[in-house]
Amino acid sequence: MADLDKVKERIEKLRAEINHHNYRYYVLDSPEISDAEYDELMRELKKLEEQYPQFLTPDSPTQRVGAAPVEAFGVVEHPLPLLSLGNAFSKEELLAWYTRTSRLVAGEQFNFVCEHKIDGLAVALTYVNSQLTTGATRGDGFRGENITQNLRTIRSIPLSVPKEAPPRFEVRGEVFLPKEGFNKLNQERTEEGLPPFANPRNAAAGSVRQLDSRITAKRPLDIYIYMLGYAEGKATPPTHGETMEYLKSLGFKVNPNNALLTSIDQVEEYYQTWEEKRESLPYEADGVVVKVDSFALQERLGNIGHEPRWAVAYKFPAIQGTTQLKEIKISVGRTGTLNPYAVLEPVSVGGVTIRQAALHNEDDIRRKDIREGDWVYIQRAGEVIPEVVGPIKSKRTGRGKEYNLLKKIFDKGKRRPACPVCGAEVVKPEGEVMYYCSNAACPAQTQQRLGHFASRGAMDIRGIGESQSAMLLREGLVKDVADLYYLEEKKEQLLKLEKMAEKSVTNMLEAIEKSKETPLARVIFALGIRHIGEEMAGILVTHFNSIDKLAKASREELLSIPTVGPKLADSVISFFRQRENRRIIDRLKKAGVRLEEEVVEPKELPLAGQEFVITGRLETFSRQEAEARIKALGGTTKDNVTRETTYLVVGAEPGSKLARAQTLGTKQLTEEEFLRLLEQKT
Ligand code: IVH
Repeated sequence: MADLDKVKERIEKLRAEINHHNYRYYVLDSPEISDAEYDELMRELKKLEEQYPQFLTPDSPTQRVGAAPVEAFGVVEHPLPLLSLGNAFSKEELLAWYTRTSRLVAGEQFNFVCEHKIDGLAVALTYVNSQLTTGATRGDGFRGENITQNLRTIRSIPLSVPKEAPPRFEVRGEVFLPKEGFNKLNQERTEEGLPPFANPRNAAAGSVRQLDSRITAKRPLDIYIYMLGYAEGKATPPTHGETMEYLKSLGFKVNPNNALLTSIDQVEEYYQTWEEKRESLPYEADGVVVKVDSFALQERLGNIGHEPRWAVAYKFPAIQGTTQLKEIKISVGRTGTLNPYAVLEPVSVGGVTIRQAALHNEDDIRRKDIREGDWVYIQRAGEVIPEVVGPIKSKRTGRGKEYNLLKKIFDKGKRRPACPVCGAEVVKPEGEVMYYCSNAACPAQTQQRLGHFASRGAMDIRGIGESQSAMLLREGLVKDVADLYYLEEKKEQLLKLEKMAEKSVTNMLEAIEKSKETPLARVIFALGIRHIGEEMAGILVTHFNSIDKLAKASREELLSIPTVGPKLADSVISFFRQRENRRIIDRLKKAGVRLEEEVVEPKELPLAGQEFVITGRLETFSRQEAEARIKALGGTTKDNVTRETTYLVVGAEPGSKLARAQTLGTKQLTEEEFLRLLEQKT
């Protein structure tokens, strides 16, 4: 027993330590330990939790991985509606808002809090007895969707807060995808033949509203809390500014760029400063939110319709420009996608010279009716790749023709459309928007595949970037990704290459050696199978724990995974059917690359084999939260009572399931009994 106590103590200590480092890293952006040290702590905790599942709790930092997909999101009624904001588009409009506000408070002096208006998705987080119980979208302001399971995967959202926090409270904030993550996600989506997200807001919303929270878990989402919705059972500060400080002290992430200001001139200054610097921000901001600091005044000012009178969104102008689109060119991606892009007459937009812009795919170009020679609007936002918004039709001379990709790449000699790099045949799989080069050995593809294989999200081989991949291919030292693991034998030749001194060769070989330990999901992602992004690779590994099992999977087996559709299943099958790919995998295996993953058997968990059905409303947590806790302990949940059901959990106002359970003689649990069971097993 003493030993078990020690284990529990160690687990708790590890959790506290990891939570502390999560907070330093994700909330304060100021880590105290290296990634490797952090990984070591996580590894130890995971191992202990696997060995002693009785100590696994839903708020453990290991439980931010996401759970199996839900059929649909439940509805959450917001106790207080989530409002939207009125806009000011100029200094005059800001001053008009200020004059009106001053008049309404009879000339009383007041302070402002200015914050960045982040372009993301509004969420409301409810904490009961220090635990995150519900996370919801704004919805129509009165009713939102229950996305607790997904929000739990965001590291900067605390799963629990200190005991001193109010017994029940709700905070609101903006979930967003930083620019870097947004660009990466879109690049991947294009490579996988999926339509890119139009802006970081859509990307964040798409990520958070995933039915499979394991996908959400893979996206680098972040949050800034921007207001306290309500708090019960404990007094909270009387102003917005102090409340934000208070929330920070509870562990919430609050934007460090917020400012408490005392005059409307200072507000204008804050706006000007950030309008100039907005590009340098790691997230997309489309304006400044100006709020009256005092809650007493906020109350006096009240709302008009959906909008509070005590706040206004002072919007930044869009960074747009116009220029002439000289030509639509095509590059070849790593999966062979033919990616059209616009070559522009260079133009300076907000101080940055733009020469090229993304065009995504032929359908997109046609929908916007963009033609070569057109004058076009272009738009850019920070490091987000500039895009062509649309043509200025009034300036059209009539020369440009509707865009036709196949005509563009028609090879007269071959009398068919041809890959612009290698001349191979071009195909467009049914139901897809992208055209592909059919030659897996196309030099453009090989180079990109090699670069992708070595990239950070994949095998993470430092020292093999774009230029090195190109060089290794050019010199004939590698022909495919497996060759990297046999470079050791060619050290002499490597040393003869330009810019390859002893040190850089040694570093490169060491990085290659180290990459053999890369987790299987990343290896699968690295292989560059069409339609398999980082997220999907992770999902596949939870079903097939070795590359051999994946290679042998039938179409039916693949399709039985909820997030796998026919396009994806066919892509996996066709990848492993190709001899060349099987050869590469064999050689990776021989070189010692890890192609298997250990899995924890769910049957070791305390509720394994027990099936739960819930009816009626639970007081302690939402339906999703209850289901998550059952699943975390190895149990399953179903929608209907059958003979297989172990327990029916009966909440307030139960439905017809109760009658069915009575007929079948199913064991019933009150909410209290259910809680006790969870606690016993935890
Ligand atoms: S305060 C009643 N603060 O803007 C005040 N909103 O148009 C409600 N937003 O739905 C919001 N950054 O999603 C506030 N610092 C910030 C914000 C912010 C972004 C979003 C929020 C809201 C929308 C209002």
